Amino acid sequence: MSQPVLGILTLYLNDNKALEERPVYEKMIAAGKRLGMQVFVFTPQDVDDGNGRIHALFFKPETGSWSRKWVRFPHVIYDRCRIQRSHRFQQLLAFRKRYSHLIFLNRPLRNKWTVYKTLSKVSSFRGHLPVTRLYQSPEDVTSLLRKFSTVYVKPINGTGGRGILRIDRKTDGSFLLQGRNHSRGIVSPKVVSGQNLHGAIRSWDMHGDRYIAQQGLNIKLPNGRVHDYRMLVQKNGSGAWEVTGCAGRIGPAGSITSNLHGGGQAASMNALLKQWVGGDSAIAQIKSTAETFGVNVARHLESTYSSLCELALDLAIDRSGKIWLLEVNPKPSREVFSKVGERDVYRKAIVRPIEYGLWVYQQRRSSLSHKSSLSAEHKTAGGQTLGTEHRAADAEHRYYSDADPYGILY
Ligand SMILES: Nc1ncnc2c1ncn2[C@@H]1O[C@H](COP(=O)(O)OP(=O)(O)O)[C@@H](O)[C@H]1O
Ligand SMILES: [Mg+2]
Repeated sequence: MSQPVLGILTLYLNDNKALEERPVYEKMIAAGKRLGMQVFVFTPQDVDDGNGRIHALFFKPETGSWSRKWVRFPHVIYDRCRIQRSHRFQQLLAFRKRYSHLIFLNRPLRNKWTVYKTLSKVSSFRGHLPVTRLYQSPEDVTSLLRKFSTVYVKPINGTGGRGILRIDRKTDGSFLLQGRNHSRGIVSPKVVSGQNLHGAIRSWDMHGDRYIAQQGLNIKLPNGRVHDYRMLVQKNGSGAWEVTGCAGRIGPAGSITSNLHGGGQAASMNALLKQWVGGDSAIAQIKSTAETFGVNVARHLESTYSSLCELALDLAIDRSGKIWLLEVNPKPSREVFSKVGERDVYRKAIVRPIEYGLWVYQQRRSSLSHKSSLSAEHKTAGGQTLGTEHRAADAEHRYYSDADPYGILY
């Protein structure tokens, strides 16, 4: 029997075909080898539609070298493509549409606003969601500022802390505006009066994206730096959701975001919680609540949208130990765990998508052999394996008709 094959679907970073997460893919390919699964990397640009083949990238762990080979489509696809404004992203949309019958471990998740609306329908989640509204005019921000002393204004399709504005109401009635532009640079802070606030919000460069306004949490450590947590929830080798790990991130001085790519530092969750909320039993309680919440959110989002294999939750924990969900990331990086020195968690984070891919492949095999033994009993025409496979995949994903899979609209 041929080896199961997993394709990592990604996008080139530029026209020179550079790959963003090459070291991560190398580790995944090596893990696949150990587990008996062939893993290659490809982008929509490498697909030869006419001949049904892919000019895929292979990595040899023994020699540390990459090479290309023409191959057939993989049994399962693991999508690592992050939303971006480029022609490459348009090619991805076309690929996903054309090949929607293939087996994808993960389908696109929606934007921040849609995810918020979906989660806020579940009563047990509501207490963990900061008050959030879709930004339509500066009044959406100022009305929140009457209730909360801090408000975050964020692009619904943003990543990595880009384009985020934070507004603090000061005791003298003025407002402090701080933020990061769309290239992630720190924007010089400015103080405006109540009268000038609407104008200042209007002049924030929204880059043509839609925004949300959100209750700001007070997550400034005594040294003035903001902090939060990154929780990775993944499907394991038995197809069940599990928390792989959770680590803290501390933003650089003068930053309103903690993202590692914006200069944030990784920190152990335990160490942060010790200085932030104290007592061991409180910490144990917080961690267990956060884990249950994380798994429930993943389950719920998967059942609402469609296949998912991993998610990262950005969590804020306030001084009273309450857990708040800032954002759900469908294409999480795992580097926070290596940066904080949690090698075992990092290894698990790399291997799990492969183990899960193998499990999905085996499930599909056994359901296909079950189906083919049934059809043999009914003396139907033999049919080629590939055709049967495609029909089964088609049936499974027929419910997935989505005019806006990446949530570019809302
Ligand atoms: N409501 C909020 N209260 C406090 N800090 C926030 C809030 N929203 C975002 N942040 C900070 O900004 C960072 C980036 O915001 P996030 O919603 O995760 O967007 P991105 O997709 O750009 O990562 C968070 O990790 C956190 O440090
Ligand atoms: Mg984030």
